[in-house]
Amino acid sequence: MSSYTSGMATPTELLPRDERERRLEEAGYNVFNLASADVFVDLLTDSGTGAMSDAQWAAMMRADEAYAGSESFEELEEAVSEVMGFDRVVPTHQGRGAENVLYGCLIEEGDVVPNNTHFDTTRAHVAANGGDPVDCPADGADDLDSEEPFKGDLDPETVRELAADVGPDRIPVVILTVTNNSVAGQPVSMANIEETRELADELDATFVIDACRFAENAFFISEREDGYDDRPIAEIAREQLSHADAIVMSGKKDGLVNVGGFVGVRDPELFERARQRAILYEGFSTYGGMAGRDMAAMAVGLREAVTEEYLGARIGQVRDLGTRLRERDVPIYTPVGGHAVYVDAERALPQIPLEEFPGQALVCELYREGGVRGVELGSFAFPNAERPELVRLALPRRTYHAEHVDHVAETVGAVLDRREEVRGLEVVSEPENEALRHFSAELRPV
Ligand code: F0G
Repeated sequence: MSSYTSGMATPTELLPRDERERRLEEAGYNVFNLASADVFVDLLTDSGTGAMSDAQWAAMMRADEAYAGSESFEELEEAVSEVMGFDRVVPTHQGRGAENVLYGCLIEEGDVVPNNTHFDTTRAHVAANGGDPVDCPADGADDLDSEEPFKGDLDPETVRELAADVGPDRIPVVILTVTNNSVAGQPVSMANIEETRELADELDATFVIDACRFAENAFFISEREDGYDDRPIAEIAREQLSHADAIVMSGKKDGLVNVGGFVGVRDPELFERARQRAILYEGFSTYGGMAGRDMAAMAVGLREAVTEEYLGARIGQVRDLGTRLRERDVPIYTPVGGHAVYVDAERALPQIPLEEFPGQALVCELYREGGVRGVELGSFAFPNAERPELVRLALPRRTYHAEHVDHVAETVGAVLDRREEVRGLEVVSEPENEALRHFSAELRPV
């Protein structure tokens, strides 16, 4: 058995309750406006907020900061080739940079783009290039209680119907997001990845995998899918991606770094076009907006991310949070996904009508109660979308300890114990672009 020990401690403080109350009011009841120093346990995101290993820090010290032909880029290329099976790599500053580069090359005005479920930035980049992003989740993705093993899957029949409707040549790209962040971090099965490959061939479309959480997805395949339990996770991780024509990657998730990303492609002609576009938006094609240090750290992080020791501890911690919440009768999305536990705010605070944002009310209450910061992914973040009213508690990688997990579960439990007191919210001011309102809108209790 092997595991990690921690070599750097960061203090974190729980402010007194009246201070939390004041900061929340000052933040306009929007936790994106809180300073990180005001937060005790920060579960806003698992993106770029994790801790790096000693090997990653050591690699950073030896990094090559050359503008062109950096050795650290070569290390990253080798790691991507070895761990993910793509030999043509276009580095970018983070995941959405990779989306801009790739989707800008593949999508044209009037195209229709299916995805198991688009993450916000993916949806925005498809739309920015004139495409219509269409979610095609498998049946049951919105069933918060079923124990189906792969609720993140794509429904190929929905895509076929879409193709029959709009014409197959209007669908240039099919995207699969693994794990499916917008469906509670649920995994996608290898069988579904293979089916999506066949579907893309039928439509003569490019098959793209959004690989942000590819290692976590591979862990679930090894645990739940027939024929994979005795295979090394690193091998499964590679096999998943072997079916895709291209990948977009945010290194801030399973790259185990604080910033960085890349596109991986197979087709040399697409590679050339992606490189040219990246020079415009990201930087020269051997750094793409990252420092040499960032690339060196990601090269090491990708290899660490597919180890059984790391993944067992990682997914285990997310599951522990789910178990502790269930012990406190907190309604959550089951099974628990890869990077976060999603609380069903409609059931948690049934007295608050949807127009008064029960999810955002719960987010505020978690901060008020225990200095915990989560994020609302329901009626406040996605106005007009038919989605369950969820609050995501995302665990940064290799950061928090069991005592923090306990504190979070106790905090949510304590809020539910006095749920009748919790009031709904109304929007006081919001930005022009409604799609981005949860980042900066201000609210007040009704
Ligand atoms: N794709 C998925 C599935 C993501 O979850 C994210 C980011 C991105 C693309 C964009 O990557 O942030 O590096 O530009 N998700 C973060 C989150 C922000 O909190 O879930 P990025």
